[in-house]
Amino acid sequence: MPNHKIILNSHDLLEKSRGLRFALPQLGEFATGFVVRFHGKAHAYVNQCAHVPVELDWEQGNFFTVAKDYLICATHGAHYQPDTGHCVLGPCKGKSLQVLPVTEQNQQITIHLDKLHK
Ligand code: FES
Repeated sequence: MPNHKIILNSHDLLEKSRGLRFALPQLGEFATGFVVRFHGKAHAYVNQCAHVPVELDWEQGNFFTVAKDYLICATHGAHYQPDTGHCVLGPCKGKSLQVLPVTEQNQQITIHLDKLHK
């Protein structure tokens, strides 16, 4: 039975820096999710573009634009709001990444996968 949560160390997730990736075997053998920190808060998503179902990051963990204001898909450049997963620019404008609920306490980030859907 797959795990229903992922636990990560808060110290490993820095503001507007590299995202942390994790496997999501519930969605398929190679499926991944990721978490980033933006304005102090952790935000996690399924690592799959709303345009074409590919991972956002070519260079693993590299999700932010150069200006660090949006998450960007490396394939065609869709821009997503880091705190909502909403696509505001690019071929999937108006769509969203799949949000994974996150809680953080006692220096631990917990990503809850109970409601994960394909
Ligand atoms: S696959 Fe992400 S913008 Fe096209």
